[in-house]
Amino acid sequence: QATLRGSPSSSSRLLRRGFSSESTPDRKVAVLGAAGGIGQPLALLMKLNPFVSKLALYDIAGTPGVAADVSHINTRSEVAGYMGEEQLGKALEGSDVVIIPAGVPRKPGMTRDDLFNINAGIVKSLCTAIAKYCPNALVNMISNPVNSTVPIAAEIFKKAGTYDEKKLFGVTTLDVVRAKTFYAGKANVPVMEVNVPVVGGHAGITILPLFSQASPKANNLSDEDIKALTKRTQDGGTEVVEAKAGKGSATLSMAYAGAIFADACLKGLNGVPDVVECSFVQSSITELPFFASKVRLGKNGVEEVLGLGPLSDFEKQGLESLKPELKSSIEKGIMFANQS
Ligand code: NAI
Repeated sequence: QATLRGSPSSSSRLLRRGFSSESTPDRKVAVLGAAGGIGQPLALLMKLNPFVSKLALYDIAGTPGVAADVSHINTRSEVAGYMGEEQLGKALEGSDVVIIPAGVPRKPGMTRDDLFNINAGIVKSLCTAIAKYCPNALVNMISNPVNSTVPIAAEIFKKAGTYDEKKLFGVTTLDVVRAKTFYAGKANVPVMEVNVPVVGGHAGITILPLFSQASPKANNLSDEDIKALTKRTQDGGTEVVEAKAGKGSATLSMAYAGAIFADACLKGLNGVPDVVECSFVQSSITELPFFASKVRLGKNGVEEVLGLGPLSDFEKQGLESLKPELKSSIEKGIMFANQS
């Protein structure tokens, strides 16, 4: 012991540890629905995130196994599993970021709106608990239909007196991830360099990728190519649902996208400058109360909702055609939260 204490390697380790805890604040992340198809790989990816110091994995069943498994990974965060409603409060207490992939996924032939009846109730009860146990957390809503579950969450938080529009996010990152991949493939540019904003909402035609703003620029894409890329991005989820043939929807790519978005939230909280991601948030950039667009993240969540930028005629048309559907999905969510 004595020799160890005095050894250069142990003191440099101590120094390093002191340095890292000063520069990287403690952050607790809770995943609700952590034993599911998205929840499990998302738990894994959050365990790999160096900004996370505590990782709470909550589900109605199965979390002890997921938590025991993930907890053996030798990264910074301490992992705990929580199962059943009576443990939800403990899972949420002290959370900085709460990620919600709880609920049922689509089967072939279903729209995201077909999930409303089950998922709306789940989201309502989880958000009621968030308002009680961690009202200041940033909420990353993955459960579909996002176009309605985000407005439901907002209404639940308003009723509880805890609503802060800067802290509620619909996760649309998978649409961005898909748009980038499909664009890179078609334009033949390196995928890791690609940026494409995706605006609107997260279902069918409400997903509007802005390929006119894509970078790097590609001069080899025709109007027909852009139309096809737009449609493929809008139908990307359905492509996976059909390929999985009844075994659910996107889980691995969604976990990746969810981890990217949560990482951006954590960076914002930690004061990293210029963190920008697309997200479905309370918005005044169109006449709709919620809208997905680029958002700058900061110490309090949303720092700035960025405008749409210049749109092509095709995108302008897409914007006008998505508004009625998005409006009615938002209203459906608000009505549900206030009826029940
Ligand atoms: P899954 O069925 O594999 O997992 C859902 C998990 O939620 C299950 O472990 C279940 O026990 C749990 N759960 C159910 N009720 C709960 C409650 N009250 N509290 C906590 N956990 C609860 O489903 P999967 O594939 O993980 O999808 C989850 C949700 O994510 C679905 O609503 C799906 O539509 C949505 N999704 C969203 C995407 C997006 O881009 N935002 C992309 C893909 C899926």
